[in-house]
Amino acid sequence: MPFETAVVPAGPAGFETPLLAVAVARGGLPSSLASLDKGTGGALGRLFAAGDFSGKKDETALVYPPGPAARVLLVGLGKGEEMSRASLRRAAAAAAKRARALGVARAAFHVVPEALGPVSPREAGQAIAEGLAHGAWQYNEMKRPADDQKPPLTRIDVLAPADTDALTAGHRVGAAIGAGQTLARGIQVLPGNVCTPSYVARTAEEIAARHGFAATVLDKAAITKEGMGALLAVAQGSAEEPRFVALEYAGAEGAPVVLVGKGVTFDTGGISIKPAQNMEDMKYDMSGAAAVLGTFEMLGRLRPSVRVVGLIPTTENMPSGTAVKPGDVITSLSGKTIEVINTDAEGRLILCDALTYARRYQPACVLDIATLTGAIVVALGHTASGVMGTDDRLIEDVRQAGERAGERVWPLPLWDDYRDLMKSDIADVKNSGGRPAGSISAGWFLREFVDGFPWAHLDIAGTAYTDREDATRVKGPTGFGVRLFSEFVLSRQAAAGAAAR
Ligand code: BES
Ligand code: MN
Ligand code: ZN
Repeated sequence: MPFETAVVPAGPAGFETPLLAVAVARGGLPSSLASLDKGTGGALGRLFAAGDFSGKKDETALVYPPGPAARVLLVGLGKGEEMSRASLRRAAAAAAKRARALGVARAAFHVVPEALGPVSPREAGQAIAEGLAHGAWQYNEMKRPADDQKPPLTRIDVLAPADTDALTAGHRVGAAIGAGQTLARGIQVLPGNVCTPSYVARTAEEIAARHGFAATVLDKAAITKEGMGALLAVAQGSAEEPRFVALEYAGAEGAPVVLVGKGVTFDTGGISIKPAQNMEDMKYDMSGAAAVLGTFEMLGRLRPSVRVVGLIPTTENMPSGTAVKPGDVITSLSGKTIEVINTDAEGRLILCDALTYARRYQPACVLDIATLTGAIVVALGHTASGVMGTDDRLIEDVRQAGERAGERVWPLPLWDDYRDLMKSDIADVKNSGGRPAGSISAGWFLREFVDGFPWAHLDIAGTAYTDREDATRVKGPTGFGVRLFSEFVLSRQAAAGAAAR
């Protein structure tokens, strides 16, 4: 069911809707809500006076007042002096999630102007649109509809009595990013028997056709011809053929930003097989690919003046009589030989060929994104993704993009000291250095294949999906990376524009 949001130049008082969500900061009833309070027969004032709601972060109160809004949902933003895009994004997500749960077909969302603080109306419009899309997301396509099925949520109006133009401009950006993130989550959630490598490739082609991007899809024969021996080695145990996808959005001339996404549609571990516990989560091992595809959906909607290439190596990782074995030595696209110590360290194998392939675009920079190591969950938990790379400036740009996007990343060092972990006795490099510094050694493996461009690697194994439900999120895929990449790419556009002027 399509879900959309739009800015409406109206105030909250007198707005007719099944559900009016109003985000307020900590404190008493804001003065801008005086006429809404009056219209609700003083219900809001009494709520505050009773101390039943004070605007704390994630706090909500639902009232059923007289008046044109059937329900008013107050949503807490937290302390006014700590106001940020993240607070607004979160409140919007909580409101949309609640609207979904209440079973209303439409709703309205309003932030009181008193609460905005340092957040500009443009930024607010973007954060709200991102949050609404995030909170409204759900997936029930594989379930039989319930008998008492409520109508699906199809629209949320963002009420903007003032600053309408700025809010609308930000909303347009946020809605495109939100649509990209929704697309990513929609592919992530699919099980491995539906979302196969050829499905990923078809999805990429569908996005390309819809937005007029150039798309190249290499099948197994073409991958073999190209010489991508590392991708082929991972794929050789599977009945499903691998694919290699290249998408190009040419919104400007010049050196492109290249985004590389790990597309392992199911990771059993291969011969180095994983334990059965939670193995079903390994359907999410294509979340990097989903983030790249979601970013292209955003690009197609916003058409910014940047050049972006997306590369997706996609395969299953299966055990079988034809599977690659521990100890096997394979030859990558770069010509470097790799001793496969552990067939479960497959992500780096498919990424290394993509990094070699990236060189032909003479990139301005390359960012890869992958559910690469369990060790990153040990290091950073589910709060932040890891970032590593060859260029401190690029790493800092990525970190700041993540901060703006509300998708946190934190740097780990790629010091030369760690390089020895990946030395092989019989090949140029081995694919596993064991348990110590597991995320860094994976980063160092990738670095061996980086040649001729600034590069940063994002390890999203702890952030791509969640098994916890909270005020803003449901269990399942998060679409992590789409907002960060969008911020990164859009800020490059601004930088290029400034240079031209
Ligand atoms: N896809 C996994 C990493 C992963 C773990 C993603 C947990 C999401 C949640 C990756 O392919 C993998 O198996 N990595 C191994 C590497 C090891 C064999 C060197 C790991 O982290 O154990
Ligand atoms: Mn693995
Ligand atoms: Zn994997």
